Amino acid sequence: MTPAQSLYARDMAVVAGIEKLRFFPVALESGAGSWLTEEGGRKLLDLTATWTACGLGHGHPRITAAITKAAKSPAGAGGLSAVHRDSVGFAEELLALTPGTGDRRVYIGHAGSDANDVVLRACRHATGRRRILAFRHGYHGGIGTALRVSGVHIEAGVTADLDLYLAHYPDPLRPHSAPDATPEQERDACLVEVERELARGDVACLMVEPILSDGGMVVPPPGFLAGLRRLCTRYDVPLACDEVKVGLCRPGRFHTFEHDDMTPDIVTFGKAIGGGLPLSAAVGPREILDGPPASALLTTAANPICTATGREVLRVLVDENMAARSARAGDRLRDALQHATSGMAQVAEVRGLGLAIGLDLVDAEGRPDRRLAQMTVYRAWELGAVVFYVGGNVLEITPPMIITDAEIDLAASLLATAIRDAVSGRVTYDQVRSFSGW
Ligand SMILES: Cc1ncc(COP(=O)(O)O)c(C=O)c1O
Repeated sequence: MTPAQSLYARDMAVVAGIEKLRFFPVALESGAGSWLTEEGGRKLLDLTATWTACGLGHGHPRITAAITKAAKSPAGAGGLSAVHRDSVGFAEELLALTPGTGDRRVYIGHAGSDANDVVLRACRHATGRRRILAFRHGYHGGIGTALRVSGVHIEAGVTADLDLYLAHYPDPLRPHSAPDATPEQERDACLVEVERELARGDVACLMVEPILSDGGMVVPPPGFLAGLRRLCTRYDVPLACDEVKVGLCRPGRFHTFEHDDMTPDIVTFGKAIGGGLPLSAAVGPREILDGPPASALLTTAANPICTATGREVLRVLVDENMAARSARAGDRLRDALQHATSGMAQVAEVRGLGLAIGLDLVDAEGRPDRRLAQMTVYRAWELGAVVFYVGGNVLEITPPMIITDAEIDLAASLLATAIRDAVSGRVTYDQVRSFSGW
């Protein structure tokens, strides 16, 4: 047994399965830049950035310095009953970077899940309405109300037991409205469905991902988010945009919704904002996020080490012009992937915005091929890359935003080889069947 295999086996014996989403038996020892080191010393090119939480890569010198400095003299451990420089500074700086008008507040939490949960509960309280409008195959969290409005969980068997409507999310590759619908027709059909639900007058919040990420890295047609904006204004429903996974410069803009030139009422953040530490936030109107007091209490929320780190993450994103960098790196990676997989019938599409990229795998009949995705990510790990799949059949390629050109070129050739090897039977289904994946 290699050291990595033995660490993985020890994990299986003691850590609860309920919190696992595994694709192959990777056991990690350390990380640097875009690379992870497995127990035993093997280097792996990281094409997930821990589901985007390590957006600035592993051990970014400025983030390491901020964590170390804050940890030397922390002002307590949370913001429930005392304020400190970094909780206030983090909220002020995030507000300044998030478009919006009026008197706004910032909720500071631990994870995308609690930020979304708090927003949904606060909208229900503030509007006095109960119903939530979200989208099929969406993902907003792994706990509480955020879990109960996530299409991905509901489709996997979680009971919503909540007043909820899941609308279709426009899918340009596989339109639900008609097999040959154009992206614009598909978008408009989804907007008609949303309007029908909003018109009932009982919706407390519309929550949407600006790119459907866990649902398959689906980029909506231009005009979809702007259309939601128009409808939410018309029916006076708060529009919450969940930027947890693909926001914060990854899509080539600071916020994904900027691609559609619209401004949500509420924006939620998580993952990359903590530089690898647990930190999340929601920015929204005072009337929604200010009350009732003491109804969203997490003792260590607004922790001084996490908020100091979050402040440094925001500065690095601005100082290093990370949005432009992600846009450029994303173009190069998509081109390289297209080139490396050209002629492969199994690759239906390489899509995405900036460094939020999906590679859609299909079978001989052109249907989504989950088994091929399972075998491809397993083979990629054997070849030296970490990549996961979403939506059943789509490789989610979200490397650290500091990825270099040489690493991008390596990533493309490695993934093409992994697909080719998976197709030609280098991985057996027996090897992957015990990893639940999505
Ligand atoms: C769009 C989106 N929202 C919210 C979450 C929940 O974030 P967390 O797992 O950090 O609680 C996720 C996690 O994958 C996500 O992709």
